[in-house]
Amino acid sequence: MRLQNKNIIVTGGASGIGLATVELCMQEGANVIMADLPHDEHVQTASDLSSRYTGRCIFVATDVSSSAQADQLIAATVADFGSVDGVFNNAGIGGMSPADLYTDEDFLHILDINLTGVFRIARASLRQMYAQGSGSIVNCASILGVMGQSMTAAYSAAKGGVVNLTRTLALEAASKGVRVNAVCPGYIDTPLLSALDDNMRQFLIDLHPLGRLGKSEEVASAVVFLLSDESSFITGTPLMVDGGFTAGKS
Ligand code: NAI
Repeated sequence: MRLQNKNIIVTGGASGIGLATVELCMQEGANVIMADLPHDEHVQTASDLSSRYTGRCIFVATDVSSSAQADQLIAATVADFGSVDGVFNNAGIGGMSPADLYTDEDFLHILDINLTGVFRIARASLRQMYAQGSGSIVNCASILGVMGQSMTAAYSAAKGGVVNLTRTLALEAASKGVRVNAVCPGYIDTPLLSALDDNMRQFLIDLHPLGRLGKSEEVASAVVFLLSDESSFITGTPLMVDGGFTAGKS
């Protein structure tokens, strides 16, 4: 098992890509700290997962827009499990609008969750991982971190920021035994896309050379690879998980 006895935090771990990653980490022998906005159901989900696998899963209510809660998540993990071996910085929100119609408030809200939220959790994690001398952080970016798309000014600015934040953190952390990478999913069939009508869905499918949307489990596989020692010589990399979306036009 690739994550045997490792303690892994997954933010936004209660839904979609995050939940699939929580489950795959459990399958790979990890203890998992599922962090997400508070909800009674999430406590039950974590308890159900613990009963199905050898590792332990707990839910820690965490809003990534709060530095205090980010710090508390790391402190709670260390208090309970002793170390933070891996973090999947996945919590995020969508949002579409023409750039000229964005209010400051709406634009900054998306940046606050999708970019500063990643920074808050990474900062708290790095402090702990530097003390340990080891760790692996995986940030969730997007194809919209490496290319633009109309109607996504705030989201693509945030995800572009995540890609370059990843590179800089990787450089700072390299000499301290800590790796930092990103995944860049194409369009993945999760609750984030549930508002799409059939035409829009088909439009998005057609943009992927592999001819379909991705599955959460396919992103989770890439994340577990980057969290595990299998990727021990990889750091600062944005890994495309996009069905060929960013490869070019055929
Ligand atoms: P989702 O909506 O299914 O899950 C997102 C999770 O983040 C939810 O559980 C939500 O409660 C949590 N969350 C939202 N705000 C939070 C906050 N302030 N603090 C803590 N948790 C918070 O979405 P999905 O699709 O699984 O997305 C996960 C990540 O993947 C996001 O960062 C998203 O931008 C990224 N992504 C998704 C793509 C897609 O097509 N679904 C494509 C590329 C990237």
